[in-house]
Amino acid sequence: MNHDTESPRGIRSFVIRAGRVTAAQRLALDRCWPRYGIDFDPVRPLDLDACFGRRAPRTLEIGFGNGDNLAALAAAHPERDYLGLEVHRPGVGHLLRRAEEAQLGNLRVIAHDAVEVLRAMLPPASLDEALILFPDPWHKKRHHKRRLIQPPFLALLVSRLRPGGRLALATDWAPYAEAMLAATNAVPELENLAADGRFVPRPAWRIPTRFERRGERLGHAVFDLALQRRVSAPADDPLR
Ligand SMILES: C[S@@+](CC[C@H](N)C(=O)[O-])C[C@H]1O[C@@H](n2cnc3c(N)ncnc32)[C@H](O)[C@@H]1O
Repeated sequence: MNHDTESPRGIRSFVIRAGRVTAAQRLALDRCWPRYGIDFDPVRPLDLDACFGRRAPRTLEIGFGNGDNLAALAAAHPERDYLGLEVHRPGVGHLLRRAEEAQLGNLRVIAHDAVEVLRAMLPPASLDEALILFPDPWHKKRHHKRRLIQPPFLALLVSRLRPGGRLALATDWAPYAEAMLAATNAVPELENLAADGRFVPRPAWRIPTRFERRGERLGHAVFDLALQRRVSAPADDPLR
């Protein structure tokens, strides 16, 4: 398993937290990586049909944390395939344990920086759906440059969605919610699906994640964005 997350791209959206990998997570990492894990490869794009052994609608979750939401979705929708990206090894171990317990056949994991995985490994228009739930809010102004949800990242991510593919974002940090809204509005290929062009009610498909529960304990409101890659270029697109 390649846990290397070094990259020359400079500012990253994460710092590797020191969290301890428990003995059970370590066992799961060792035992289940061959079944569920895909090593980062900077030069060879992934053949997703070959990875999953079939062609089915595909959901990508970036920064899945301990993976509870991803495991629940994969168990609830055996007709779909799920790919998770996470750099926090205890979280990857936690998810692999759950995947093995539930004998999930429709889940794969890459333990590497999502920016590099999107760039190097995921072919254009290869995903039907992408989820980023409670990305690190990087509260301090001097850290805002580390926030994942910014127009260049979104443009990269959207290029990996098929036209009509969906993107779901959620946060419990109101200033980040507004920044996400501005960033998504700045990407012409993205259409906001909310009735008022802002946020949608909490979607029923999402199970409360660890960070959502934490936000609730702190009395934070939760903001959900539902977006879609436009099927055709927007009317005011100058390149149209
Ligand atoms: C605040 S936590 C939220 C975890 C989970 N989605 C939840 O709601 O409980 C953000 C997660 O994103 C991961 N992360 C941040 N930047 C990442 C990146 N560039 N690639 C992969 N994972 C990333 C972090 O390691 C962390 O586990």
